[in-house]
Amino acid sequence: MSTLLRTFRLLLALVALFGLALVATPATTPASAQQPSTVNPTKDAVSEDQLLNQMRILNGRGTIPDVKSYNLEQPGGRDWRHFQDVVLPWVGAISILGMLALLVVFYLIRGMVRLEGGRSGRTIVRFNAFERFIHWMTATCFVILAITGLNITFGRKLLLPLMSPDAFTAWSQAGKYAHNFLSFPFTLGVVLILLTWIAWNLPERTDIEWLKKGGGLMGDEHVPAGHFNVGQKAIYWIVVLGGGVMAATGYMLMFPFALTDVAGMQTTAMVHGIAAVLFVAIMIAHAYIGTIGMEGAFEAMGTGTVDLNWAKQHHSKWVEEEVAKGRGVAPPRGVRATPAE
Ligand code: HEM
Repeated sequence: MSTLLRTFRLLLALVALFGLALVATPATTPASAQQPSTVNPTKDAVSEDQLLNQMRILNGRGTIPDVKSYNLEQPGGRDWRHFQDVVLPWVGAISILGMLALLVVFYLIRGMVRLEGGRSGRTIVRFNAFERFIHWMTATCFVILAITGLNITFGRKLLLPLMSPDAFTAWSQAGKYAHNFLSFPFTLGVVLILLTWIAWNLPERTDIEWLKKGGGLMGDEHVPAGHFNVGQKAIYWIVVLGGGVMAATGYMLMFPFALTDVAGMQTTAMVHGIAAVLFVAIMIAHAYIGTIGMEGAFEAMGTGTVDLNWAKQHHSKWVEEEVAKGRGVAPPRGVRATPAE
């Protein structure tokens, strides 16, 4: 019996020893994976990614005084790249092409808003030379800023396949200079528009009626309005506030890190990009209504005068005010104004 017990104990000890040996031995791996010379980029990338996400930032070493340049990677930078490569082009394409599509549909349904009853032959001054100058200076700068800005977002995808790399580089470099330098007259124009037209863009009682009737845009009803109606006041405030945001973020991008750190720079670039594409989409609608959308409107910014019938149809309250002040209405064409005795 004792011999049996001893044999059983010996067996148990052997099993325990074998088990211990099994646990202590490292798991066997294929010979190829043990080769230290084998490059496994996926594995490296995974560990780099893990490292990045654990540390939130990867820094190298450098010799130049700007220590920010030692930063190699940071998760915010990847989000920013995703925004530049994917989010912004999509938001831009949807808003700009969407606006163009909307205007085409609107034009097909409504057509040009006609001058009812034709022209009276009498004109009224709508914008003086200074006002037209600041409008066209701001508008010209805006169009060039828009084209050269959109080139940064869409140029490589849309233009590079159509031209040589050298030509695209030259165009993009010239575009960047234009974008930087035209920001100054554009900002000046926005400030002058703010100061010159603010009195005409404050809320009025007639605005509520104009809004209720949808500006008479779909019917033939005349909705009274002052010098600017609600739609135009909206354009004014979009230009002033949107232009302000574009200028502020633009100068922060032009003078990097002057006011903020890398995270702030990324946010600034995102705000600049999104505000820009929305701004462009809205100004396309503005240019539509100022040209093919409404008969007789372009003259206001072209020659500075509009036909009296146009003024009565779209801005009756303003005409009443001007007539009451005894100014602005020119006699019918061909009839000379008689000088006062
Ligand atoms: C490039 C094409 C453009 C055209 C054809 C155009 C045309 C016009 C016209 C005809 C008016 C006078 C409307 C009226 O008498 O009631 C006007 C007004 C105005 N424009 Fe433009 N414009 C253009 C671009 C711009 C741009 C790029 C800006 C600013 C960034 C701008 C800002 C304004 C403002 C603030 C007004 C006064 C409010 C209003 O009438 O909507 N315009 N524009």
